[in-house]
Amino acid sequence: MPLARGGPMPPELKRMKTVLKSTKLNNVLYDVRGPIVDAARQMEDEGQKIIKLNIGNMAPFGFDPPEEVVQDMARNLPDSAGYSDSKGIFAARKAVMHYTQQQGIAGVTLDDIYLGNGASELIVMATQALLNDGDELLLPAPDYPLWTAATSLAGGVPVHYVCDESNGWMPSLEDMRSKITPRTRGIVVINPNNPTGALYSDALLRGIVQLAREHDLVLLVDEVYDKVLYEGVKHTAMASLSTDVLTLTFNSLSKAYRSCGFRAGWMVVSGDKRAARDYIEGLNMLANLKLGSNVPGQWAIQTALGGYQSINDLIKEGGRLRRQRDLAYELITAIPGVTCVKPQAALYMFPRLDPEMYPIEDDRQFFMEVLRATRVMLVQGSGFNYPDNQHFRIVFLPHEDDLREAIGRLAAFLAQYRQRHAKA
Ligand SMILES: Cc1ncc(COP(=O)(O)O)c(C=O)c1O
Repeated sequence: MPLARGGPMPPELKRMKTVLKSTKLNNVLYDVRGPIVDAARQMEDEGQKIIKLNIGNMAPFGFDPPEEVVQDMARNLPDSAGYSDSKGIFAARKAVMHYTQQQGIAGVTLDDIYLGNGASELIVMATQALLNDGDELLLPAPDYPLWTAATSLAGGVPVHYVCDESNGWMPSLEDMRSKITPRTRGIVVINPNNPTGALYSDALLRGIVQLAREHDLVLLVDEVYDKVLYEGVKHTAMASLSTDVLTLTFNSLSKAYRSCGFRAGWMVVSGDKRAARDYIEGLNMLANLKLGSNVPGQWAIQTALGGYQSINDLIKEGGRLRRQRDLAYELITAIPGVTCVKPQAALYMFPRLDPEMYPIEDDRQFFMEVLRATRVMLVQGSGFNYPDNQHFRIVFLPHEDDLREAIGRLAAFLAQYRQRHAKA
């Protein structure tokens, strides 16, 4: 029953014990689907049309999954009603094993591969199995916020290392090193990166591996955008450079195969596993507890990873993703006081609003205002654990006309904001 604001509490409510969420959720933040999204939903209920640039969900923008993948899932549906092996079906894990061989990752066996409901579930599983209360995990800032949330939920302490905007959003090795303490258990690397679109060089990856080697840290590497690359840049699987360091690599069908709704992801354990028997036992325990992942989605993996890679048509010169990246970058950087590192990979940009022209005290409030005034939904930088109020993430998935419309409305809003604040 809704509470009458300001009125006395009804007697039946007085008798009820309040149901509180657990304190484990205190540091959990997921603004990609947070209050701005709730406000947008309410506006939609009122009949307004919102342009959603908040989430990397490809299907609603007409990025279809490969037909063959859908057909093979449908063909295997009758055989998908039972639980699978808790680590996943043989054919899919074998395909992932072959993929690691193509990537130059040494010595991966079927036993090292775990399938899950997207990379997300496996990220939560890996952090739960690794962290004791108070253990620290080094995470990028800005980050993909699931990583920070999963760390907190597991009782760990997220410690953010700086990715340097003035250096193309490359992680700072010095900053990373300075944040290692006796409680640090691992380093999270997101490459290609969400939300910055940065792709890391081999030299940088080797530097991070060296830090992990020196301090006995586990590498947790999120490579879900490893095939979403522009202008011919090459992605190196970090695990191919960390053969003597325990490395967990996360990937899925969600992005390169436009299939996030199928919830098909995998985790590969590689590197020196000799000292990690106990941790691996923990991973196996959690895999058994979850009884396996969505079986129809698992059937999609072998077909997706083999043969023709349709993502290449989208990212090549003239391809739809490439055109949209170029247009979004051109339009965003044409707005006075907005700068942006051009993304080399993934589906996002993380532009900066000059604080002189756009003084912003609370960036969530600011982008709530943007939503109400323009009906364009964006996520503020603090939603990615970035420690200032001057950034936001833009998803360049809409068709070019919609991108023009959305960024045009944002530009008009910012022009008004500039005027207001120049006068003030
Ligand atoms: C960096 C990163 N990791 C993981 C995920 C989640 O992927 P999945 O759909 O496989 O759970 C996303 C989704 O946007 C992401 O951007």
